[in-house]
Amino acid sequence: MIARILILLSGVLILASCQSDSNRRNTADAQIEKRIDELISRMTVEEKIGQTNQLTVYGTTEELCEKIRNGEIGSLLNVVDPADINTLQRAAVEQSRLGIPLLIARDVIHGFRTVFPIPLGQAATFDPALVEQGARIAAIEASAAGIRWTFSPMLDISRDPRWGRIAESAGEDPCLTSAMGAAMVRGYQGEGADDPTSIAACAKHFVGYGASESGRDYNSTNLTERQLRNVYLPPFEQAVRNGAMTLMTSFNDNDGIPSTGNRFLLEEVLRNEWGFDGMVVTDWNSAGEMVSHGFAADTKDAAMKAINAGVDMDMMSHVFSLHLKDLIDEGTVDERRLDEAVRNILRVKFRLGLFENPYIDTARIARVTYAPEHLEAARRTAEESAVLLRNEGNILPLDASALRSVLVAGPMADAPAEQLGTWTFDGEPDHTVTPLAAIRAAYGDRLHIGYNPVAAYSREKVTAAKLAAFTAQAASYDAILLFVGEEAILSGEAHCLADLNLQGSQSELIAAARRSGKPVVTVVMAGRPLTIARDLANTDALLYSFHPGTMGGPALIDLIFGNAVPSGKLPVTFPVATGQIPIYYARNMTGRPAAGNELLLDEIPVGAGQTSLGCTSYHLDAGFGPLFPFGFGLSYSTFEYADLQLDKEAYLPTETIRASCRLTNTGKRTATEVVQLYVRDRVGSTVRPVKELKAFDRITLEPGQSRTVEFELPAEDLAFWGLDMQKRVEPGTFDLWIAGDSQSGNSVTFTIN
Ligand code: BGC
Repeated sequence: MIARILILLSGVLILASCQSDSNRRNTADAQIEKRIDELISRMTVEEKIGQTNQLTVYGTTEELCEKIRNGEIGSLLNVVDPADINTLQRAAVEQSRLGIPLLIARDVIHGFRTVFPIPLGQAATFDPALVEQGARIAAIEASAAGIRWTFSPMLDISRDPRWGRIAESAGEDPCLTSAMGAAMVRGYQGEGADDPTSIAACAKHFVGYGASESGRDYNSTNLTERQLRNVYLPPFEQAVRNGAMTLMTSFNDNDGIPSTGNRFLLEEVLRNEWGFDGMVVTDWNSAGEMVSHGFAADTKDAAMKAINAGVDMDMMSHVFSLHLKDLIDEGTVDERRLDEAVRNILRVKFRLGLFENPYIDTARIARVTYAPEHLEAARRTAEESAVLLRNEGNILPLDASALRSVLVAGPMADAPAEQLGTWTFDGEPDHTVTPLAAIRAAYGDRLHIGYNPVAAYSREKVTAAKLAAFTAQAASYDAILLFVGEEAILSGEAHCLADLNLQGSQSELIAAARRSGKPVVTVVMAGRPLTIARDLANTDALLYSFHPGTMGGPALIDLIFGNAVPSGKLPVTFPVATGQIPIYYARNMTGRPAAGNELLLDEIPVGAGQTSLGCTSYHLDAGFGPLFPFGFGLSYSTFEYADLQLDKEAYLPTETIRASCRLTNTGKRTATEVVQLYVRDRVGSTVRPVKELKAFDRITLEPGQSRTVEFELPAEDLAFWGLDMQKRVEPGTFDLWIAGDSQSGNSVTFTIN
């Protein structure tokens, strides 16, 4: 009884403390709004326009200071020297009329100095807590350099590996992307935005950019409102719910409307439906580019369309600073819209505590950069992000005590800048540990380690003679570790590919290693899924490491020698052939789905009649399935899923579905499995996806150990935007799987009434 009273009492206390927290927040918010009112009432139109203007650093610091003193700049990007930042900030705070601090921004995409795996790799961990920790570390290092705003997380659903920016994304799935995005937002913004180690997050690119036609950057998208709402918008909504302070519009036009001029998205959805009270910035020159789109007649028209659509800050197209005054004088832009934009910008500055703490402690950077715990977190993330795709005869992990020599080869074995991946302006190759350095440090005293890059970089074409010499050399070693992939510059913004085979002579290199007759372990370090079907046959094991960052080397060597066990799962479907793209697991149910017994090109008799061709949805030359499905990844152990159960057979839309299964580690090593819960809505008012990921968890088990894995899925998570464009759970029958990837496992059935 006493215990019960205590529990009840502590419940009351928790409630009370939540209440006072939220009271405190409301009071703080009210105070901020009052200070904004007061400030705006004292601002000239020119000073207001100045706040909406974001520039990159250019010219001398003094030239910039002059503009800042005049109140012409609200935010700067790409200054990273703490002393310079303090000088610029002094011009704003102490020498401009109103003393409004600058907001200093930078693309801190997957780490600052300590570089974490590219976001696609981070998504492969299926470990939001670890990703949150990575973002926190990035914020600690970046804020020490004076940066208080990052242009991350990138939340573009990416179902096209030709698109170079897939590297910056969390892959193809809205549930996984939402979880990763929310984790990053929490990590960047920390306990409170006004903590000097917090940086404002920016959810980008709003929206649909990942669906650029033919995977070519900056290209058009044609997503229906239903697709936007069911697939592309949810990660942004989650980021907003998790407090993302800013949001960036995207470069693409969707259905003919450039995002930077899309009032429906920026006002209706973002502000009215989601209640976003942060700030919207354009992408670099995306307001000005509405002229190239032919959506605006000139830069003045572009300024008018952007601000009236709901953009608050113009990154680098100067259209606000050039034209807003005239537009207001002419009455085509209401000054109240400008006030609202300035209010949104100032709110971010107040929340970050910039008015109270505008300057940086320049000594902090030396204390925090590359702190041992940062490097350890980067190593762990690289380890969890690697996906084991093949392990014939359980060749991995290698037993170092059973080997005398190892040949390390390939252009990515010792390429520190390349393993950092795209968008790493502040990463330093000198502080990056490559696989070659890591194996030498860990096993140099025990193993004879040979090294031959064969190709100097991933695209290099090497001669047949060189490959033959490599085969001969490899034959004299006990095992070959091949590191291939893509240079960092082959993915990321504006780096799209039409052909996703390994570049240069790398496939030939793998084949040459195979000809040595020795065990071949291949590690692919890349910014995207590559079409590696032909390479798999030539390697005993293949570990896929999306560019793994500063500590990629030690992480991979630990995995190869069994000091760690792979647990990464694919955040994106791997195609057999580029022509299958877009290929993703959550496709709509078609009228003629592939049955799995379709004839392929070589099997079709010459002269066959039309009816012998299957009449289902597949490619004659690539079949129907992917090379590897979303969610797939092997381990050094094996897992068995059993006893899939639900707590009930029927639920109301307001109830919670409790699903469980028994997971057993049936192998010989302690290992972690990413357990995934998928649902299919059998019949909808519009066609539904064949499966959708709804939840996941990482479960670690010792050999032989079993555990009941339980998920609580609110039935409202089954809601979607149906025929009447309302979001609701439609009653009916559903299938539910708990499995190790998106293609395997048995299902149970339930109904929503
Ligand atoms: C990219 C953005 C980035 C911005 C600022 C643009 O080219 O599309 O993602 O944040 O530049 O560097």
